[in-house]
Amino acid sequence: MEYQTLNTGAKMPKIGYGVFQIPPKETTQCVLDALDVGFRHIDTAQAYFNEAEVGEAIATSGIPREELFLTTKVWISNAGEEKAYASIQKSLEKLKTGYVDLLLIHQPFGDYYGTYRAMTKAQREGLVKSFGVSNFFPDRFVDLVECTGIAPAVNQIECHVFNQQTKARDLYTRYGTAVVAWAPFAEGKRNMFRNPTLAKIGRQYGKSNAQVALRFLLQAGVSVLPKSVHKARMVENFDVFDFTLSIEDMQTIAAMDGDESLFISHTDPDMVKFLIDYTKNKE
Ligand SMILES: NC(=O)c1ccc[n+]([C@@H]2O[C@H](COP(=O)([O-])OP(=O)(O)OC[C@H]3O[C@@H](n4cnc5c(N)ncnc54)[C@H](OP(=O)(O)O)[C@@H]3O)[C@@H](O)[C@H]2O)c1
Repeated sequence: MEYQTLNTGAKMPKIGYGVFQIPPKETTQCVLDALDVGFRHIDTAQAYFNEAEVGEAIATSGIPREELFLTTKVWISNAGEEKAYASIQKSLEKLKTGYVDLLLIHQPFGDYYGTYRAMTKAQREGLVKSFGVSNFFPDRFVDLVECTGIAPAVNQIECHVFNQQTKARDLYTRYGTAVVAWAPFAEGKRNMFRNPTLAKIGRQYGKSNAQVALRFLLQAGVSVLPKSVHKARMVENFDVFDFTLSIEDMQTIAAMDGDESLFISHTDPDMVKFLIDYTKNKE
């Protein structure tokens, strides 16, 4: 396993298993499969509504807790110091663990300054080893860091071959914040798994499009969170540490960057409202 050292000194496995959009009923088995394949970093969130099932898998896996790296995220509806702190305790209960390795503010909306203070307190109390943000774009990121004096350990952002976020990543890295890619396959958009450029590159190394896409990000210094409900694909996605893309292949893939989100605009008022309302009637 390769690790990225965070600004807290914690070591985060560079590949993690993401459970977004996995129905609760399937989550425990999926996480057990991922652990069996070798994943030791699991990424969930309050807003995925499957923390309890992740906790169940961790509890039954028999893997010592200290060998696992567990991430969850505070949703907008729990923003603010008191609410966020209470939600952290609730997440820990669901996850059946005394601490999470990484806690993120899921979205840059609501009273996330209060949430950040709650995370600082939770870290002091040992409930959280490292904390950071997700979906914080350069303006909000700089605002948060400069006004609190605390650089997030991680910024988890959309990042894949079609939206590489090169300039933004440089900024986060300058502040000592590690970048973790969500949707490292762009959820298969733009026919990524059949993209001819990735396929041609992959043939030289005997690797699939999925493996080339992950390897590109890893070599660019980005940790990755591939999601699959299929064990054979988990095996494929985990098998990305035995080859190195050449400089030319890295440059070819760098040229595929469209420099815009395939999912979401955080500056679109309708989208902001959608996110704020996302968990209403679900909690
Ligand atoms: N912080 C955030 O706001 C945020 C947002 C989105 C995601 N995330 C995190 O990032 C993780 C990954 O993102 P994501 O789930 O949106 O998308 P993703 O990992 O880019 O793509 C998942 C899709 O790719 C398919 N797939 C996976 N491996 C494959 C392979 N080897 N060959 C062919 N198809 C394959 C999966 O299908 P099957 O499952 O059917 O195999 C699924 O449809 C999430 O689970 C979550 O932990 C965070």
